[in-house]
Amino acid sequence: KTLYEAENILKPLELTDDCYRKVMEIMNQNIEEGLHPDTHANANIKCFPTYVRSVPDGSEAGVFLALDLGGTNFRVLLINLHDQEVSLESKIYMIPQPIMLGSGDQLFDHIADCIFKFMCDHNLHDKSLPLGFTFSFSCRQAGLDKAILTTWTKGFKCEGVEGRNIVELLHAAIDRRKDMKNVRCLAVINDTVGALISCAHSDPDCAIGLILGTGTNACYIENLDNVKTWDGDNDDPKQVLINSEWGGFGNDGCLDFILTDFDRAMDNYSINPGKQIYEKMISGMYMGEIARLAIERLRKHKLLFEGKGSEQLSTRGRFYTKYISEIEGDDVDNFAMTKEILEELELTSPTDQDCRLVRHVCSLVSKRAAYLASAGIACLLNKMGRERATVAVDGSLYRFHPFFHDLMMEKTAQLIQPNLSFKIRLSNDGSGKGAALMAAVASRLPREEQ
Ligand code: BG6
Ligand code: GLC
Repeated sequence: KTLYEAENILKPLELTDDCYRKVMEIMNQNIEEGLHPDTHANANIKCFPTYVRSVPDGSEAGVFLALDLGGTNFRVLLINLHDQEVSLESKIYMIPQPIMLGSGDQLFDHIADCIFKFMCDHNLHDKSLPLGFTFSFSCRQAGLDKAILTTWTKGFKCEGVEGRNIVELLHAAIDRRKDMKNVRCLAVINDTVGALISCAHSDPDCAIGLILGTGTNACYIENLDNVKTWDGDNDDPKQVLINSEWGGFGNDGCLDFILTDFDRAMDNYSINPGKQIYEKMISGMYMGEIARLAIERLRKHKLLFEGKGSEQLSTRGRFYTKYISEIEGDDVDNFAMTKEILEELELTSPTDQDCRLVRHVCSLVSKRAAYLASAGIACLLNKMGRERATVAVDGSLYRFHPFFHDLMMEKTAQLIQPNLSFKIRLSNDGSGKGAALMAAVASRLPREEQ
């Protein structure tokens, strides 16, 4: 009886292949809408052209600074490109929450401060260095060095930045300090683009950059002819990387047919209700909370912990997504890790049966996330129709979850056209390397082409 009741509560988290195929079909339409000027403004999946037209050819050289903002960590990097070799040093800096929710000037002053500290630590304070910026938020680009933020996501909400060119805001903050040399940002890229570029450097089949981390997003190579919103030149190669911003998929309600009560409750209390619906079902910022809500529901029905809860378990955001990875990776013979986590949440003496059910919840949440991401990837692979394609992935969810890769391989293979083949690979150092490579490319371009 218990098991049956639990299954009933959890059933909405299990989607059929028909659902995944439907998701692909709607996504395909939404992408078309994003790429067309008549429908772009209201499109859920914006499909911004990135102005990255080809992958750097390996001849790029020089010393560059790079910034990486928008994932778990904010980092400043120093990158040396030389003879196809890349050496890299980086340091993580904190962005305190009041700054994430403060004014734009505070954010960029803080970033300039971190760049300055980094340069001092590396004896670079008297140098003028070009900089590449991996800025992992939804931006409309008007060139490699012009990125207008359309919407903050992932817990950031700094006033006065949406609608502005972030390169100008960064330069203004650098100029406000009188003690900094001429550090100029030459290129802004999304983290998906960084993942793709740095993988494509060694794998010519690489055609998709995917992030599965705090948020989720993908970029892919599109033929210029299909990009009706393109207003750049038509030179060869007749292609451009498209930053899909697929996290916004579902914002118009088109994914409501797969949402569960847990998704709706999580969304209601988020900083951006009704927004980033697809992202909220897939990425690390939200998966833990979905699992927590499901566990709480089971507990209230006395199907877990004899019905006894804890303050920790009823606290929003307290069940971290990393717990899902740890619990699913745990040894099912003793549930040592699972018990440790549950005890951390002040749930005393969980039984093996409790652990088994908690693990089941985690696996349902992560399986749905991996399969939904697979539906997105399959949609892009089918759309590109390349016989062979590599998907370059970065992000903590993909890196740390024990089976995310395998789940995606299995489901993507089922959903793509039978004549296509694909690989999914981790892309290392995408953000630093990608941003530096693009800054190098930009430093060679004549001014009017940037
Ligand atoms: C990092 C990249 O490895 O992964 C970032 O350097 C990216 O650019 C991030 O945003 C995504 O993963 P997470 O889990 O940190 O959000
Ligand atoms: C969010 C951002 C997007 C980014 C993704 C992964 O969806 O809007 O730009 O690529 O998170 O970090």
